[in-house]
Amino acid sequence: MDISKLFINTRLDSSSPYYLQIASLIKDKIIDGSLAEGEKLPPERELAVLFRVSRTTAINTYRYLENKGYVIIKRGSGTYVSNSYNRENKGKKEIPWPQLLKPYNQPSMASLMSELMVSSVPEDKISLDAGMPDPDYYPVDIFLKLYRDCFAELNPQDFGHIPVQGYEPLRHTVVRMLGEAGIRCQPEEAIILSGSQQGLYLSARVLIEPGDYVVIQSPTYVGAIQAFQALGARILSLPKRESFPLEILEDYLARYRPKLLYCVPTFQNPNGAVIGIQDRENLIRLAARYRLVILEDDPYSRYYYKEPSPLSLKALDNYGGVIYLSTFSKILMPGLRLGYMVAHPSLINRVVLEKQYVDLHSNNISQWLVDLFIKNGYLVKHLEKMRSIYKKRRDAMVEAINSSLGDKLSFNNPEGGFYLWCRINEGIPSKRLLQEALKTGVSFVPGEAFYANPGEDKELRLCFSRHSEEVLLDGISRLERALMKCKKGQYVIPQKDIRPII
Ligand SMILES: Cc1ncc(COP(=O)(O)O)c(C=O)c1O
Repeated sequence: MDISKLFINTRLDSSSPYYLQIASLIKDKIIDGSLAEGEKLPPERELAVLFRVSRTTAINTYRYLENKGYVIIKRGSGTYVSNSYNRENKGKKEIPWPQLLKPYNQPSMASLMSELMVSSVPEDKISLDAGMPDPDYYPVDIFLKLYRDCFAELNPQDFGHIPVQGYEPLRHTVVRMLGEAGIRCQPEEAIILSGSQQGLYLSARVLIEPGDYVVIQSPTYVGAIQAFQALGARILSLPKRESFPLEILEDYLARYRPKLLYCVPTFQNPNGAVIGIQDRENLIRLAARYRLVILEDDPYSRYYYKEPSPLSLKALDNYGGVIYLSTFSKILMPGLRLGYMVAHPSLINRVVLEKQYVDLHSNNISQWLVDLFIKNGYLVKHLEKMRSIYKKRRDAMVEAINSSLGDKLSFNNPEGGFYLWCRINEGIPSKRLLQEALKTGVSFVPGEAFYANPGEDKELRLCFSRHSEEVLLDGISRLERALMKCKKGQYVIPQKDIRPII
């Protein structure tokens, strides 16, 4: 049996001898039934390869497990899960789920991200990690009012199944809204999605086959990297430059013929970067020449704090190759789970087919309410209010860092969006800082999460949208305390114990 599936993503560390760590991992799988009694375990040589340890370590692992009664070593035959141990578990006929599941190659930073998103931050903790609007400003009261006022007009049919492509009135409203932003499109070219994350996955799903290349800006939104990797894409990264690195992209186009360029041109998550209008026009020209599909992800362009955002790539699209994606998660509430995509009908029709397999259609009530919200003019007012609130928060965070952490952190001052992208000037890795920060009651996302190929661990993303100015100041002073503690405590960079595989 191939036991490697059971140990994907397990890492050995320097806390105890390797043979004890491996023995403990195997013992756990015997106890939870993933390794059944009488099951033959891999030969020592294979075990050594699996855990990247020496053969002696593998031999010691099995000897140790034999001593403890978990396995039996039969000379000349192999190592087997012991029957005597499992006798205690005879009554248990559990399905060995871990064995049945497909291998899952989730990068470790991505799992750290999901932990951050899921772990509810205790009352007194200040969360500067997840990129969300401030829940105190969710327009719930207006949604309630619309629900009460308009419920009588709702056709009962609207509670049944609706087209996969979305609630028709909302699609028309989205198309009108996009028209005001310079994007000319028809309702047939639009689909309502369960969040733009779904759009990332579905568009990649209909375009990418395992081994295809996808170009991304680096750093970029972790959810996009995860979706592309889950579909087997090979990632090519464009480094951050003063102007968009068109020459590197052209090189990639010529060498690798990538299927897709994913980009967040306006107020990039995580670094707030904006692709200038000249670069946008040049990018469209280059993409048209190579017939490159661009997946433009645009959740933040309506949060500008200086000048209105430049025209989107979709507005400049003269070759039909841009897929435009946006969401109501950042401008209204993420729990609505509503996003939308606009693209060539051929692409949209395929995405409709794929979406059908996933959820039939997005939630009717959310779509109905959001449509009313926009039609009644509430979105424009809400955005005006939120821009002014978030601008003040950005300024407060910038000022706080400048005054207390100016020499320790370098950062950009974004002209929109939700994030400050910082670089630690001292020799402290951001994951180490996060450990201390969590102890002082503040959290952030280590920069490594936003790279397909994480390198030096020196950056971090702080989100300023979620808390009031007062709380943000407290958060920054906690971060300062955490940095001081990291400086005092000697930080020893762990030695990577790379051994030859024999
Ligand atoms: C760039 C980007 N794209 C997509 C998403 C996903 O948003 P949604 O809630 O619409 O799925 C996010 C959320 O943080 C994001 O930052």
